[in-house]
Amino acid sequence: MADRARGEYTRAVNLPPPPELHQRPLGGAVVRSAAYAFSSAEEYADLLAGRVEGYSYGRVANPTADAFAAAVAALEGGNLDRETVGEAFASGSAATTAVLLTYTHAGAHVVAARAVYGGTYALLHSVLSRFGVSVSWADPVDLDAVRAAIRPETTLIWVETIANPTTRLADLPGLAAIARDAGVPLCVDSTFASPVLCRPLESGADLVMHSATKYIGGHSDVTGGVIVGTPERVHPVREVRIDTGGFLAPDEAYLLRRGLLTLPLRMERISASALEFATALADHPAVEAVAYPGLASHPDHQLAGKLFDRSSRPDGGPRYGGIVTVTPHGGFDAGLALANGLRVALNASSLGGVYTKVSHVASSSHRQLDEAALATAGIRPGAVRFSIGLEDTDDLIADAATALDRLG
Ligand SMILES: Cc1ncc(COP(=O)(O)O)c(C=O)c1O
Repeated sequence: MADRARGEYTRAVNLPPPPELHQRPLGGAVVRSAAYAFSSAEEYADLLAGRVEGYSYGRVANPTADAFAAAVAALEGGNLDRETVGEAFASGSAATTAVLLTYTHAGAHVVAARAVYGGTYALLHSVLSRFGVSVSWADPVDLDAVRAAIRPETTLIWVETIANPTTRLADLPGLAAIARDAGVPLCVDSTFASPVLCRPLESGADLVMHSATKYIGGHSDVTGGVIVGTPERVHPVREVRIDTGGFLAPDEAYLLRRGLLTLPLRMERISASALEFATALADHPAVEAVAYPGLASHPDHQLAGKLFDRSSRPDGGPRYGGIVTVTPHGGFDAGLALANGLRVALNASSLGGVYTKVSHVASSSHRQLDEAALATAGIRPGAVRFSIGLEDTDDLIADAATALDRLG
């Protein structure tokens, strides 16, 4: 039947496709399709059976999400001689969930860093425990403790490059050796470092995970997650992602890929600003402690010098990221008062981007932890986490100093 013979409604739902592109659009493409049309029933069957590559259904795979995941894989694994692939998720927590579901089972045991993001703690402590998975918490720079925590039933080691909010580091090369000996994967949540500061796969980690909501997106306007590793490690997680539904929507994927273009620039400025900020506040009389890996007083400062990339720095020194945790004297209430006293930094959720944000840790990101769990994680009740953004450093320092002065 010729097109003009078709009815109006039929023609309306059979609009001509967009033009085929012969030039590379620098802005990238957003493919919003939740479903795809095939040239034949056989092509559909071949796609579903994995006999040919392509796209069949929005939850299974999307070209814009794949472009984002491939871009992160290039940043994390570009220097490696083994193939690295990425997989995108609806959030960092969706990525964490898929990794945990892939690499644990009833009766399995996980060794996790004692300071991890509160949501990760909740997944391990409250959710997976209901399915018979146990956890041992260990200090990720104390390699003997990590080795001692490994059991025959251990199936996964989970750490953060820079822990939230303590800013303690993980000894990634040492942990990778332990994981190799034990025959279990090491997964590194590298959200706070971003691929600009540190690339855990280069230290021997098996999987790296990011909450892309943070530095990768960078503008507080998108939620997403991503993992990178060898195809052997990533593909099983992808299968769980498909079955559990935590896919990254195409518009979000577009924004996250765009965020990558300015990530090195943002991390450079944020790191320089955070170092100045941490140095300036460390001697304030109202301050009990400032935790920042760039300070010589930080217990992991030497390790930071080894782990963090310095290749593109004019001065050859590493960058240390944007998270500075300031604990005023006076405990829980003093922490709240410091957060309340700020006028430039925002009391805001999330972290890692253009805005300087603070959170009183014990009442926000780590509210799931009781007093004992906070102490085990090395988190003081008054700790205030600053995620330094792009504002003028002098304004940030004056803002925090004024709020601290008021604490008396
Ligand atoms: C270190 C870290 N990992 C994972 C997550 C979870 O990411 P999302 O909020 O994108 O699910 C967060 C969120 O704050 C985080 O800070």
